[in-house]
Amino acid sequence: MSKDIILIIGANGQLGSVLIKELQTIHGIHKVIASDVYSVPNFEGIFELLDATDKAAIHEIVKQYSVTQIYHLAAILSAKGEEQPLWTWDLNMKMMLNVFEVARLTAINKVFFPSSIAVFGDQAPLENTPQSAFLNPATVYGISKAAGENWAQYYFTNYGLDIRSIRYPGVIGYQSMPGGGTTDYAVDIYHSAVKKETYGCFLSADTKLPMVFMADAIRATVELMEAPKENIKTRTAYNIGAMSFNPGEIFAEIKKVYPTFEVEYQPDFRQDIANKWPKSIDDSEARNDWNWEPKYNLKLMTALMLEKLEDKYNTIKSK
Ligand code: SER
Repeated sequence: MSKDIILIIGANGQLGSVLIKELQTIHGIHKVIASDVYSVPNFEGIFELLDATDKAAIHEIVKQYSVTQIYHLAAILSAKGEEQPLWTWDLNMKMMLNVFEVARLTAINKVFFPSSIAVFGDQAPLENTPQSAFLNPATVYGISKAAGENWAQYYFTNYGLDIRSIRYPGVIGYQSMPGGGTTDYAVDIYHSAVKKETYGCFLSADTKLPMVFMADAIRATVELMEAPKENIKTRTAYNIGAMSFNPGEIFAEIKKVYPTFEVEYQPDFRQDIANKWPKSIDDSEARNDWNWEPKYNLKLMTALMLEKLEDKYNTIKSK
């Protein structure tokens, strides 16, 4: 069992709520402290209410539990961020810099900070977007992640703080719901199919985006964090790719299982965000440096999503 004590900030989010279980399995349930601004009922493990805009409060928890690693997952995502740009910037930057500062001033040996495909804009090649493509993000969320990547590099170069990061594509899982993102449609669509509802899709049928299945996203995170320090050559954030598809393709895959399922396309402001994002990702650096390799494609993921969501909704109905 590892000697590390892990703090997760944003533990109730789409990724956090799944990652927490994986980290509890790896490190032991008493070695993982989950935190968020709101609590969830029946949480299994150690939970602390934490507002990450309060640096002293983060410091206090780090001291109290002798935390050695932080996974900082809290952020306002791309679509929601556009509703209140300045508030989003303030919140995302303040939380991130608080975490980096507390880590610098304490015995934290590693920090995980998620970045996103949202750091790219229309100046990057949108097919097979390279690691080192020019960054001209068009959303506040993307600007805050691009700035965060540079801060991560700064803290590493100037203070030796071991911050590691991934540019996640859209994350798709049955365990949790995303909130406020542009890729959220790819989770919502499965829920509608299983509930036998027509899905109103906020992106057009041909909007291709890079995506990753939750199991692969979690494994990528853990593998990056466990990789030997000397292998981590990228100190901004790593591109990872897994699969790319558009709403028309995911719909066709679901329709094989639910032949009566229908989608209505009603593109809104999120279409403009998606139009400037990569369609596919070149992740050769992640493959070379820490052996990243995705396991799930659209077909495998769809089979699992539908099976697990069927179980979930049947259990709810039979209660
Ligand atoms: N899933 C995120 C979003 O759509 C991208 O990182 O905002």
